[in-house]
Amino acid sequence: MAAAALKGLILSGGKGTRLRPLTHTSAKQLVPVANKPVLFYGIESLAAAGIEEIGIIIAPETGGEIREAAGDGSQFGVAITYIEQDAPLGLAHAVLTAEPFLGESPFVMYLGDNLLRDGIIDLVEAFRSQQPDALILLTQVPDPEHYGVAELNGEQVKRLVEKPKEPVSDLALVGVYMFTPAIHAAAKAIEPSWRNELEITDAIQHLIDTGLRVDPHIVRGWWKDTGQVQDMLDANRLILDDLQEQVEGELVNSRTEGRVVIEPGARLENSTVRGPAIIGAGARLVDAYIGPYSAVGENVTIERAELEYSIVLNGSSVRDLDGRIEASLIGKNVAIGRSPELPKAYRFVVGDNAEIAIL
Ligand code: DAU
Repeated sequence: MAAAALKGLILSGGKGTRLRPLTHTSAKQLVPVANKPVLFYGIESLAAAGIEEIGIIIAPETGGEIREAAGDGSQFGVAITYIEQDAPLGLAHAVLTAEPFLGESPFVMYLGDNLLRDGIIDLVEAFRSQQPDALILLTQVPDPEHYGVAELNGEQVKRLVEKPKEPVSDLALVGVYMFTPAIHAAAKAIEPSWRNELEITDAIQHLIDTGLRVDPHIVRGWWKDTGQVQDMLDANRLILDDLQEQVEGELVNSRTEGRVVIEPGARLENSTVRGPAIIGAGARLVDAYIGPYSAVGENVTIERAELEYSIVLNGSSVRDLDGRIEASLIGKNVAIGRSPELPKAYRFVVGDNAEIAIL
């Protein structure tokens, strides 16, 4: 009998508290990097590795917009099944919730807020040819206490600890894992952690403790967990670094320098865009300067203002600023501009947990 086909499981539930206020109302996995939702990069890399069936874990609050964005998967050439997880009770809990979908298939688990530059084709090949019970991805990080951390014994994984206060190594668990169905029994055998989650690190440790083989694979290309604002800006920079120039919008007395994408229907007047940068469909730039590592979303207006190393989401406007905006993440339908009348004062309508820095 042929081995069961490899499935994909993308985790796009959870709370997204660290990207607030953007994620008060929307899923963190849909925040765009270079004008494309983070989640889509994950779906695309599973599709590129030949995976045809993908389950996506969604939360009750944000699942609707994820379904709407990714649809039935046909835009990626895959079939997507949505699996609702009642509460964010941990990554191993998400696996258990997906058990009816996964059945006896081996699968790749991909955290929906992670980005891996080099994709997963090599990893899938290693998993198929070496046939471990699980394969985990590791990379060196400067701040291992924020991740699951691995201790190796030569080529073997010896111990995994979730967000240790005193990390035993600088090898962080990257949010892509390959599992055989053995993980289901392990996820059932463990207890919730101090943060009341069923941790996937504990389930993998359980595999090791019961004598199963867990292979480590060190990631060489860049990897980003886009859980925080600084990480989003970094991920945006790294993706834009690979941009291919494509100018399709309308340029009136304007110029682009270097690798710039201007999507169809965007219009530039008396403006300069210095790449790498992307300007979304229907955007309008007037007397504007857009500097390197910027992603300007669809239908954004920038007039008499300057922007660099920033992300502006769809439908927002920035007008008449004296200083250049930089290292900023601006949400959807935000308006930034001057007060039209006296008294000369700042006027804000800003959501919870926002951050504003004024010159
Ligand atoms: O990014 C790598 C890290 O991801 C690993 O180093 C850690 O070992 C691993 O536990 C995980 O840590 P995080 O604390 O960053 O996980 P987070 O809560 O951000 O969840 C990761 C993704 O999974 C995110 O897209 C939300 C989703 N999720 C999370 C939970 C807890 C679910 O779908 N269901 C859940 O119950």
